[in-house]
Amino acid sequence: MKNKHVVDLTDLSHRELMDIISLANEIKSKPGDYLDACKGKILATLFYEPSTRTQMSFQTAMLRLGGRIIGFDNPQNSSVAKGENLKDTISVIGGYADIIAIRHPSEGTAAAAAMYSPVPIINAGDGGHLHPTQTLTDVITLHNELGRLDNLCIGLCGDLKNGRTVHSLIKTMSTFRGNKFVLISTPELSVPQYIKDVINASECDYTEVTSLAEAMPQLDVLYMTRIQRERFLSEEEYQRQNGVFVLDKDKLRYAKKTMKILHPLPRVDEIDVEVDYDERAKYYIQTVYGMYGRMALILTMLKNYEKVFAPRVMSTHPFKCSNPRCITKSEKYLPSIFTEAGGDMLLCRYCDGRTLI
Ligand code: CP
Repeated sequence: MKNKHVVDLTDLSHRELMDIISLANEIKSKPGDYLDACKGKILATLFYEPSTRTQMSFQTAMLRLGGRIIGFDNPQNSSVAKGENLKDTISVIGGYADIIAIRHPSEGTAAAAAMYSPVPIINAGDGGHLHPTQTLTDVITLHNELGRLDNLCIGLCGDLKNGRTVHSLIKTMSTFRGNKFVLISTPELSVPQYIKDVINASECDYTEVTSLAEAMPQLDVLYMTRIQRERFLSEEEYQRQNGVFVLDKDKLRYAKKTMKILHPLPRVDEIDVEVDYDERAKYYIQTVYGMYGRMALILTMLKNYEKVFAPRVMSTHPFKCSNPRCITKSEKYLPSIFTEAGGDMLLCRYCDGRTLI
């Protein structure tokens, strides 16, 4: 692999992504051939935020490959509770484990961890920013269930502002020719501008709508998401958004017979349980593809790397990121690093937040 870490799925080339999809399917069809593939290797799962699928599928993936696991699912049971910073946690665990999967509520955490880690870092979700291994799960599902990753009309519905799986999926699917995104949300929960900029810079297109029923007939894929209660500043704001979009059998009457329904899960109430029995619902098999995808990713990342303990020296920018959810707000020692986005705009290299100078 060209990159040692996976902070964003677009860190992988198309060739690398397609090879991982092929390997995931190969492992799925011949699991016995991979029982010792990671013998002697250790995966650390550092989950600063709750998880069912991502954490357990990473752990299952490593165990099914013959490796072992360490980590925490509650930072209050680690020295994080005593005030240990991210840099020290990662530097130390990088000396114990061969690969680290990290989830954290702050945007840009995986990029920050990658700066200090001697071993490969996998972003298992950083706040409302990105979730690349969910996207790997999603693209394997699309590849296997629809047979292609290009020229698709993809509806994304729900909390498109805070939904990191949405951001990652759009970034990756924008790299495939001819895809069209139908962004279905309330105006308050629309996709961030930096994601629209990614689509605008690609060969893909998007429209923004507020009606799920009206969007339905054109869709090849419907990607439903929950409203991310934990990202709202108040319960009142959450309640105003909750329940606006619900997929039920009635709305499915307008959908193509071949449409596939995906959801990263957990579901709250945005998909009625009666939809689970519709053959277009793919969200349970999606979770299985995710485990095989993570097995393939771990195997691929563990090939051809050497532990390097010397931390990279970064020069710091005089400006600070203006995103209040950026990891640089809590981990103050992190150097400010930006990409110039033209005009007076800087893009934070950790969280993609926009800062005006
Ligand atoms: N899709 C997903 O990230 O689920 P978990 O939060 O349960 O890991």
